[in-house]
Amino acid sequence: MTIEIDWNNLGFNYMNLPFRYISHFKDGVWDNGELTRNNQLIISEASPALHYGQQGFEGLKAYRRKDGGIQLFRPNENAKRLQRTAMKLRMPQVPVDKFIDAVTQVVMANENFVPPYGSGATLYLRPLLIGVGDIIGVAPAREYLFTVFAMPVGSYFKDGLYPAPFVITRDYDRAAPLGTGGAKVGGNYASSLEAEVKAKEASYADAIYLDPSTHTKIEEVGAANFFGITYDGEFITPKSPSILPSITKYSLLYLAEHRLGLKATEGDIFVNELDKFAEAGACGTAAIITPISRIDDGEKAYYFGSEKVVSPLTQKIYDELLGIQFGDVEAPENWVYRI
Ligand code: PLP
Ligand code: COI
Repeated sequence: MTIEIDWNNLGFNYMNLPFRYISHFKDGVWDNGELTRNNQLIISEASPALHYGQQGFEGLKAYRRKDGGIQLFRPNENAKRLQRTAMKLRMPQVPVDKFIDAVTQVVMANENFVPPYGSGATLYLRPLLIGVGDIIGVAPAREYLFTVFAMPVGSYFKDGLYPAPFVITRDYDRAAPLGTGGAKVGGNYASSLEAEVKAKEASYADAIYLDPSTHTKIEEVGAANFFGITYDGEFITPKSPSILPSITKYSLLYLAEHRLGLKATEGDIFVNELDKFAEAGACGTAAIITPISRIDDGEKAYYFGSEKVVSPLTQKIYDELLGIQFGDVEAPENWVYRI
């Protein structure tokens, strides 16, 4: 097959690749799962995933190494997070081995779509678990589908590794204090859509949410976590039960401490203390690291380094993370999974 893809200008867009994986859960057991060319799901109109949001998903990437090989970044962590999401929404767990096998099959079957080393692009994988079947009362489904599909992607935020402005929203919460914010479920994104559209209309990269109880602390960005680096070199990310436990964020906390020699803390980030940060960024699988140039909060604006150049520690931690992900820098134990 001839593939004509401009690997350097992909953005973050769906592409109907030749193969995806699908497995069914019925009568209390998962079937073996298989690859299929069909990108359509046929499910009952009454499926709980459609009406009551009984679903969860994941996001991870396959990276092309310089030697031509392919590797995943911490896929076990995505598998375990999907299990926690499943527990929260009373769905059956996908065993870790099944998750990794499914992802591996999809990468191998679509190998021609894993972008070349050096393009900066990757193959994004989207595992999805949904409750299906004929249930119209509010109750967990008895049948489930687990699928994994993939697409080559570049930057999620339009300019990639280039400082971008964000805006604090005080009109919307993405999650409730004791809600599902810590799980990767569609409902959290449904409640972020209005704020996100408004933020983008006002030329921001995205909205930043505050803690839903007091609206005094940074929680996270609509599609990524948040970090700040203080003038005296402390790397801080928010700690809250209503934000997504981001695999990138925990990786950066580790790298900040063990590779950059910074103090690394997961703690409260009060909006009225944002001035203590020399650098700030959004981080996640899709977002990678997007430097934050400015955060607007009503009439107030907070600035973080240059609006045109990536700040030095952000660049350093970005190089370390991507070096590991693409196989150029030695990874901490079990961080990469060779396919
Ligand atoms: N927060 C939200 C709301 C996200 O959608 C994502 C993306 O997955 C993240 C944070 C980052 O999580 P991870 O680093 O595991 O991709
Ligand atoms: C990811 O980074 O994998 C995400 O899930 C973010 C997304 C909502 C595009």
